[in-house]
Amino acid sequence: MSISTEVSHTPAFYASIAAHIAQRTRHRPTVGIVLGSGYSALADAITEADVWPYAEIPHFPVSTVEGHRGQLVIGLLDGRPVWVMQGRVHYYEGLSLQQVTLPIRVMRAFGIETVILTNAAGGLNPTFRPGDIMLIEDQINLVGMIGHNPLMGPNDPALGPRFPDLSTLYDRRLRELALAVAADLGIALRRGVYVGLAGPAFETPAEVRFLRLIGGDATGMSTTNEALVARHSGMRVLGLSGISNVAIDAIDTPQQTSHEEVLEAGRILVPRLLALLRGILARWDEAG
Ligand code: HPA
Repeated sequence: MSISTEVSHTPAFYASIAAHIAQRTRHRPTVGIVLGSGYSALADAITEADVWPYAEIPHFPVSTVEGHRGQLVIGLLDGRPVWVMQGRVHYYEGLSLQQVTLPIRVMRAFGIETVILTNAAGGLNPTFRPGDIMLIEDQINLVGMIGHNPLMGPNDPALGPRFPDLSTLYDRRLRELALAVAADLGIALRRGVYVGLAGPAFETPAEVRFLRLIGGDATGMSTTNEALVARHSGMRVLGLSGISNVAIDAIDTPQQTSHEEVLEAGRILVPRLLALLRGILARWDEAG
């Protein structure tokens, strides 16, 4: 099945895709996890898994990026049902923002109430090091602010409000739980603001200094649109950025940023992120 650009993104459309999936699994998770670049191996911990390559799910966008395995895994993580997206699509792959965020709408239609968004990000905060994990406290959706936003166009109130409030985009109780679990595990969880860009080029040093100036702590090419659509649809959102590299803030230095570096950092980050996710799910009721 291919990606359709002509479909109308109505509640019934999302519900039909959710029903297609529900007919093919006995699991009924209420927690969804989106795995970012280099983190696909996190899904290996899922048991009793039902797995679908995105290409086999009607209308699902298919990722073309290395490090994104491109399949939906529904199963159990330590006995708790979860919906796990092993990879995502990005705006720079040439899809509309409605297509990029389609899986979030489908999750909601399926019955997912909380989404955990993970990503690989460049560190803007000078105290961050590769391998750190940053709890996203807030975001700057630079792409959205200039009018490229998945909520543009007619709004169906059955999907969410025309003018959603974003003062609590990233859920406070989930953030508190993540901090408590990290403290217990001895993980020094960083906190900060994630800046969402379109990519696919990494930033120039002048752009890095600009992003720092406007209050960014980490930056990447995903997450902000998904968080926005998830919140619009009434879901609670938790965001975790794995710092894969330090964004380069001066011209003519010997350093360069590469996708290989991002994937390499993913291998270090996967066990840390997995421990954190497991700890969070184990104490899930505390954030209820
Ligand atoms: N910039 C933008 N996106 C990224 C980076 C970066 O430095 N690292 C991983 N994703």
